[in-house]
Amino acid sequence: MPLISLQDIHHTYTGTERAVHALRGVTLDIDAGEFVAITGPSGCGKSTLLNIIGTLEKASAGRCEFNGRDITTIPDRDLAHLRATQIGFVFQNFNLIDHLSVYQNIELGLRYRRDNLKNRRDLVVEAMDRVGMGHRADHLPRQLSGGQQQRCAIARAIVGHPVIVLADEPTGNLDSRNAAQTLGILKELNDKGTTLIIVTHALSQADQASRVVEMHDGRIHISSRRLS
Ligand SMILES: Nc1ncnc2c1ncn2[C@@H]1O[C@H](COP(=O)(O)OP(=O)(O)OP(=O)(O)O)[C@@H](O)[C@H]1O
Ligand SMILES: [Mg+2]
Repeated sequence: MPLISLQDIHHTYTGTERAVHALRGVTLDIDAGEFVAITGPSGCGKSTLLNIIGTLEKASAGRCEFNGRDITTIPDRDLAHLRATQIGFVFQNFNLIDHLSVYQNIELGLRYRRDNLKNRRDLVVEAMDRVGMGHRADHLPRQLSGGQQQRCAIARAIVGHPVIVLADEPTGNLDSRNAAQTLGILKELNDKGTTLIIVTHALSQADQASRVVEMHDGRIHISSRRLS
């Protein structure tokens, strides 16, 4: 059974003067442990697709399964719980909370968990160490470099040990050295078993994925698997 199964997903944004058909029939299965890169021109629906997979957005039509469970019909509360415990998000602009320290930002990734204080601390420390931010626990986001902010955001995404990490242009705001380091951390997670989906414009990153999904105008244009 695939971890993610999308069948004929359509998505239309209303609320603007003219409705936008962002997805026009996307069918895609993703197995546990895969590293999928989604590419394609601006506006082709990459972020929309990622947000639907991540349950941030509900598809207008089609079936979307997470671990065999149809997520288009489950109640919002269960959906929020699933999102908080199984899915980690990384965004282009980091999305850290300005007035919280690195430690506190990462701990936000555990807000739906009822672990005791000791467990929480252990998980936050483990996540900080995994991204090499242990020495910056008390810093505020504005006291960090862009690369460090993104590493902090990755730690927040993975602190609860999600089964899947979704990253929307995670290196879009980073220089090449920090971009490579950030991708390295995500790839290491994938090597250890976390399913990884990244949206990227960088060919050098797509090349490292086990599968590249190219989108065009709300549809999947090409989906190619690496043979090795
Ligand atoms: N909240 C929204 N309301 C209305 N239209 C939207 C909304 N979000 C996205 N769209 C439209 O849906 C289409 C797909 O947008 P999406 O953000 O998924 O593209 P993308 O492939 O991620 O582009 P980019 O590479 O620029 O990030 C675009 O035409 C966009 O203008
Ligand atoms: Mg986008």
